[in-house]
Amino acid sequence: MTSEEIYRKMKARLAAFYSDEELRQKAEIADEINQLKQEKNAVILGHNYMEPALFLSVCDYTGDSLELSRKAAKTDKDIIVFCGVEFMAETAKILNPEKTVLIPAQKAGCSLAESVTAEDVRLLKKQFPGVPVITYVNTYADVKAECDLCCTSGNAAKVVSSLKDRAVIFLPDEYLARNVARQTGKQIIFPKLRAETKGKSEHEPDDQMIGWQGRCEVHEKFGTQDIADIRKQFPAAAILAHPECSPDVTAAADFAGSTSAMIKYVEETEASQYLLLTECAMGDNIAAAYPKKEILRMCRQRCPHMEKITLETTLNALKYRQYVIEVPEDIRVRAAHSVERMLAIG
Ligand code: 13P
Ligand code: SF4
Repeated sequence: MTSEEIYRKMKARLAAFYSDEELRQKAEIADEINQLKQEKNAVILGHNYMEPALFLSVCDYTGDSLELSRKAAKTDKDIIVFCGVEFMAETAKILNPEKTVLIPAQKAGCSLAESVTAEDVRLLKKQFPGVPVITYVNTYADVKAECDLCCTSGNAAKVVSSLKDRAVIFLPDEYLARNVARQTGKQIIFPKLRAETKGKSEHEPDDQMIGWQGRCEVHEKFGTQDIADIRKQFPAAAILAHPECSPDVTAAADFAGSTSAMIKYVEETEASQYLLLTECAMGDNIAAAYPKKEILRMCRQRCPHMEKITLETTLNALKYRQYVIEVPEDIRVRAAHSVERMLAIG
């Protein structure tokens, strides 16, 4: 596709989000990225939260964390440019140790990944010996290495149910854990972490989920009042929430699911309007992809980490081979076990 063709494609879908001048500039950058991608034998994976111009023009694959992990596991390209946050790029590296994995911005973090350390997991394991540890994919490699199994928002309940154990440790998202506990019929507890564990744990876990109090700084801001306000104004609107929202919010919404599950819901249903309680770039991407659907544009939550990934930073990533993701081999091997176990469950 030439720069002019990219511009026309962007103009047709994204005129509501950018000025004409911005679209022309972005089309030129996208054209340069696409050429470099060919020259360097690279693949670009783009999370559903990427800004619309990037999402539409340069990604070979787009999707939620689970879908992108699957694509990363299968690619035969030499370079993976991960347009998402660091834990996602790290997951791609864990699955592809011999490939170069690039993330276009340094410090594209995640409040959930930052909420728990490998040492925290080691202490929890001492406190609850023998209890399997499931970690949300929104964690860093050293945490994944301490765990038995990973999950994403797309398969968390399935992963928990796949274990025969009646008790599980589920890290680090408090709200996802509460949502999954409700789905799987488990009681959830949030024990105090103890540096020293003498003898038996203070809780005898049985049909319990042992949680952690990490939160997504974007999704924790949505409340049931947001839903009540929308229902008053648009009674027939379908309200969708990501499971990183509180259980009160997911219970009051019409649908809760991963970012791709939400996209599928919009695609397959016929509501008069849709409201998405998630990161706002995704609402823009859905509005651009389904112009006949009315997406309520009341969004105010942009992820400050996802926002660092732009067409401009992606171009620099390919031009200057930056920023390279490295994972120490001993950690990678153990983390790969958790991620691969998850991919096998589906
Ligand atoms: P998904 O796996 O649903 O895409 O979610 C990732 C994420 O970070 C949501 O905030
Ligand atoms: Fe992390 Fe929340 Fe941003 Fe997703 S939206 S990357 S969970 S901070």
